[in-house]
Amino acid sequence: MADRDISGGSGKGAEAGALVVCVGQVVTDHTFRVDEVEPPPSKTTARSYAMSVGGMAANAAIAVARLGGRAVFWGRVGRDEAGEELRHALEAEGVDASGLVMAEGARTPLSAVIVDKMGERSIVTYRGERLPTDPSALPLERLEEAGCVLCDPRWPEAAELAFRRARELGVPSAMDAEKSEERLLRQLVPLTDHAIFAKTGLTIFAPGVPPEEGLARALKAGPLKLAAVTLGEKGTLWLAPGMGEVGRRPAFPVDATNTTGAGDVFHGAFALAIAEGQELEDALRFASAAGALRARDGRTPDRATLEELLAGATDVPPLRVRRKA
Ligand SMILES: Nc1ncnc2c1ncn2[C@@H]1O[C@H](COP(=O)(O)OP(=O)(O)OP(=O)(O)O)[C@@H](O)[C@H]1O
Ligand SMILES: [Mg+2]
Repeated sequence: MADRDISGGSGKGAEAGALVVCVGQVVTDHTFRVDEVEPPPSKTTARSYAMSVGGMAANAAIAVARLGGRAVFWGRVGRDEAGEELRHALEAEGVDASGLVMAEGARTPLSAVIVDKMGERSIVTYRGERLPTDPSALPLERLEEAGCVLCDPRWPEAAELAFRRARELGVPSAMDAEKSEERLLRQLVPLTDHAIFAKTGLTIFAPGVPPEEGLARALKAGPLKLAAVTLGEKGTLWLAPGMGEVGRRPAFPVDATNTTGAGDVFHGAFALAIAEGQELEDALRFASAAGALRARDGRTPDRATLEELLAGATDVPPLRVRRKA
């Protein structure tokens, strides 16, 4: 994959570390940097162009590997050139992609990512065609050695299977509850231990109510240990059973150059922290640092860079936000 900006990963992390199984989306990101995003009709010249691995679960798997964990990725692509490139790119990052389904006659998903001068992104995603839905060939036995399973909603049949099996095994799970069909969020959120929504995902799950109430509803949907929502540079709101009010994990202040994938990296780092046995608040802090570094550098950090940020941070005390009655 020429021009891919996924360099910086050493490919290490495959030989040691806690195991995280990441299930869901992998796409080819075509990233255009522009000065301004003009309203249509318009023609804009890109300052730069790059092709890289994208997709929530795939970016999360790469984050797990770079941060010193062992990452397994389960997802679907077509048996086409783009699918082959994605498989190689994942493997080059040290991700075990042997569970990547490459389907004959299917088309691999891709995204057009437009990044403006402020580092803010707009994304158009083509979700592919004829990708198989049946997850029964996945090597579910890998879950027995996993410290956490992380699923996004883009292969819901696989997410449901993995969440149910993880729960049977007592393996912790987490969900990237991104923007998707309401019925999928309703189906999957109760099956996970840690539901971490993107802002739009929470609005779809609990329409017309403030985020604090949305999180309370998510927590009641099943035996969840955490419901949270990420709000970019505004940080993360979170609620766990027994908490009277919603907590806020502030974001680490950084100068963002490219916010694409910050949420994906946040989720991968969170899942790794849980797999390592970190407490909830520590895991949220760890994940916030990973998301901030991704937004700052436009690339997924390694463990040393993340630890440096954590060690140097004069931490903002977590605020308690009163839940509106
Ligand atoms: N500009 C930023 N500065 C500092 N931290 C950030 C910034 N953007 C994101 N983060 C961190 O990453 C987390 C996830 O980001 P965000 O809420 O933007 O995810 P998202 O909406 O799911 O986006 P995507 O999935 O495209 O990455 C935030 O809660 C925050 O901790
Ligand atoms: Mg996201």
